[in-house]
Amino acid sequence: MSIGRGGFSSRLGFILAAAGSAVGLGNIWKFPFEVGQGGGAAFVLMYLVFCFVLCFPVMVAEIAIGRKTQLNPVGAFKALGHRKWAFIGYLGIASAVLILSFYNVVAAWAFGYFVEIVLGHFDIGQRFGEFTADWITVGGYSTIFMMATAYVVSRGVSDGIERAAKILMPSLFVMILVLILYALTLPNAMEGIRFYIVPDFSQITGVVVYSALGQAFFSLSVGMGLLMTYGSYLSKKANIVSAAAFITLMDVSVATLAGFMIFPFVFSLGIETDGGPGLIFVTLPGVFESLGPIFGPIVGGVFFLLLAFAAFTSTISVLEVPTAYMIDEKKMKRSNATWLVAIFVFILGIPSMLSMGAVDALTHFIDLPGAGEMNFMDFVSLISSDTFLPLVGFLIAVFTAYVWKTENFNLEIANGDQSIKGSWLQSYVNFAIGYICPVLLGSIFIVTVFDNFLGIKVLTLLPG
Ligand code: TRP
Repeated sequence: MSIGRGGFSSRLGFILAAAGSAVGLGNIWKFPFEVGQGGGAAFVLMYLVFCFVLCFPVMVAEIAIGRKTQLNPVGAFKALGHRKWAFIGYLGIASAVLILSFYNVVAAWAFGYFVEIVLGHFDIGQRFGEFTADWITVGGYSTIFMMATAYVVSRGVSDGIERAAKILMPSLFVMILVLILYALTLPNAMEGIRFYIVPDFSQITGVVVYSALGQAFFSLSVGMGLLMTYGSYLSKKANIVSAAAFITLMDVSVATLAGFMIFPFVFSLGIETDGGPGLIFVTLPGVFESLGPIFGPIVGGVFFLLLAFAAFTSTISVLEVPTAYMIDEKKMKRSNATWLVAIFVFILGIPSMLSMGAVDALTHFIDLPGAGEMNFMDFVSLISSDTFLPLVGFLIAVFTAYVWKTENFNLEIANGDQSIKGSWLQSYVNFAIGYICPVLLGSIFIVTVFDNFLGIKVLTLLPG
C-alpha cells in the first residue's frame, strides 16, 4: 500500500461502508416506486434474483481488482492490464462524477423535506413541483449536503468514511424497523403487504425485467469502480466473497424492508401505487399528515431523516471515487483533492438543480427519439446510471475473465479464504463473470441505447 493512502481498520468497517454506499436513494426512494410501477411482488422477486446472480459476482470482481492493485480504478486497470484498459476506469470515474452531480440534488430534497415535515408543513407534498423549482432553497440544502459529504471524505478512510458508516448504518436500521412497526398498525396495512409479497406474474414484461436488472445494478453500487476503490483499502487478510455476500444481503434487506414500510403507508390512505418518482415526495406527506399533529411530524421526520442518511453514505462513497483518483494519479493531498472534486461536482449539478422548472431550456432540455422529452437531470441520469453503469459492469466482467484472467482472480479471492478454492461458489462466480454477466450487462447496454437514443423499442418486441 502506498504510504498515507489509508485503509479500513476492520472488515466490519469495510462492510458497513460498502453497504452504506449500496443502501441509498435507490433502495428507499427508487425501489418502492419501481415495485409500484412494475406490478409488486413479481418485480421484487426478479430484483432479488438479479442481485445475487448478476450483481454479486461483479461486486466480487470489483473488490478483488481493487484489493489486488490497492489503487483507484484508473490505476487498477493500468496495473493489471495495459495502459489502454485505463479507459474503463475513466468511464467509471466519469459515471461517479455525473451521478453525484444529480444525486446530491435529490438528497437535498430529502433533507429539505425533513425540515419541512418536522415543522409540520405537510402541504409540501402538493408543493413538490414548487419546492424543486425553487433553486435558491434547493441550492442551499444541496450546498450543505455536499459540504458535509466532502467533510467526511476529507477526513480519510478510517476516520471519515468508516466512522460515518458505523454511526449512520445502525441508526438507519433502527429507524426503518421503528417505521415498519408503526406502519403495520395503520388501517389497510395488510393490503399493502399483500400487494408487496404476492406475485402476479402476468405483470412481467420485457420492460419490467429490464427495470429490475437496472435497479439491481444501481442499488448495489456496482459498475462504477466504487467497490474497487473501497476494495483498495481492504486488508489482504479479509475474505472478499463473504464480505460481498454480506453487502449484497444488507442492500437487499434494506430495499425489501423499505417496501414493508412504504406500502402500508401508501395503502393506508388508499392511494395508487404507481405514483412513480413522486411516490415518496408527493404521496407520503399526505399520509404523514393523516397521522395527526404529534405523530405526523415525528414519523414523517424520522422517515425523511432516514432517507437523508441513506443518501449521505452513498454520496460519501461516490465522492471517494474521483477523490482516490486525484490522490493516487495526480498526487494530491486528500483534503485538497476532496474539496476540489466536491466543488467541481457541485457546479456540474447546478444545471440539474435548475432543470426542475427554474430554467426553461434545462427543463425541456432534449427530445430523444426513444425516451422523448426530458429535463437535464433525467438526461444526466440516463447517460450515467442507465448507460454507463451497465457498460462499465460489462467491461469489468470481460476484463476480469479474459484480460486479468480467471486464475489470477481466483488467487486474489483465495487470499483471506483458502476454502473458496475449488468450491462450487468459486465455480459459480467464475461462470457468472465469464458468461452470464457479459451477456446480461451487454444486453442492458444495447437495449438502453436502442430504446432511448435510437427510438427502436427492442423490449416491446419481446413476448410478455
Ligand atoms: N447504490 C446507491 C443507491 O442505491 C447509489 C450509488 C452509490 C451508486 N454509489 C454508487 C450507484 C455507485 C452506482 C454506482 O442509492
